[in-house]
Amino acid sequence: MLQAAHEQNRCSWNYMTVIHNRHKVNQAEYLRSGGSTLFPEELELLGALKSKKLLHLQCNSGQDSLSLVQMGAVVTGVDISDEAISFARQLASDAGLKAEFIRADIYDWFRQAAEAGQRFDIAFSSYGALCWLSDLQLWAQGIRSVLNPGGKFVLVEFHPFLQMLDDDWRLAGPYTVEGKPTIYENGIGDYVAMSGEMLAVSGYVAFEAPPNPHAVYEFQWGMGDICSALIDAGLRISKLVEYPYINGCKMFPRMRELPGRRLVPPEDVPQNLPLMIGITAINA
Ligand SMILES: C[S@@+](CC[C@H](N)C(=O)[O-])C[C@H]1O[C@@H](n2cnc3c(N)ncnc32)[C@H](O)[C@@H]1O
Repeated sequence: MLQAAHEQNRCSWNYMTVIHNRHKVNQAEYLRSGGSTLFPEELELLGALKSKKLLHLQCNSGQDSLSLVQMGAVVTGVDISDEAISFARQLASDAGLKAEFIRADIYDWFRQAAEAGQRFDIAFSSYGALCWLSDLQLWAQGIRSVLNPGGKFVLVEFHPFLQMLDDDWRLAGPYTVEGKPTIYENGIGDYVAMSGEMLAVSGYVAFEAPPNPHAVYEFQWGMGDICSALIDAGLRISKLVEYPYINGCKMFPRMRELPGRRLVPPEDVPQNLPLMIGITAINA
């Protein structure tokens, strides 16, 4: 695992998380009045949540974590970003919801949690998580080490196929790069501004953010890498779904918006492309 790359990414996430949350207004009120930031796809894969001990990996500012709390789960969220975790704690307090939020690199946290005997019924990760992880084998082993016997891992993620496309849907790059990091000098972008109310469900405020001065390292993993890592760690993949739409995040400028905060390719591009994946894997 490339700790230096993760630390660099921490700076970039710290910077842009503040901006993302400035775009999103009334978040505590929204949650307090029963609002949820979750999509039907993750809810279907997660299944029953009442009283389940749930680990939310890479939870960012805790909006999804707290939406899961509202559904009865007992949630621990872990994220590397200082700004994200301090925002999540404040949001929980302002919304009157209870969750534990821990600032840590998930690789460090897995080791400490497994040693301390912490175990969960469900581990959950979603939307833009895997590209920050420098070692998928270690990631999958970490997940297994903190799952109860019979516990379930749920992943809803952008499809690895997207990694090959440019902004105009042309094939422009490789599928995977064998775990090598790619550096992006522009850092984490303002994808909340690109997506507006599709991501800012409680209310969106438009402004132009200054550029992110902190570069990032990203890692391109393919379907084979993801599934093999889970299988090699001893998890049994029980579901694998490919969705022809993206939830919430306008990742390409010309995407068309459908009801339910779904985004699909423009009409001049073939439809039914694989744009998101859903995986469940059991600690059998
Ligand atoms: C696109 S966000 C995920 C959003 C999340 N699904 C949610 O509920 O809002 C990716 C997150 O991964 C976190 N991250 C990146 N590398 C990490 C690492 N090594 N350990 C823990 N968190 C990490 C970032 O800080 C960021 O909050």
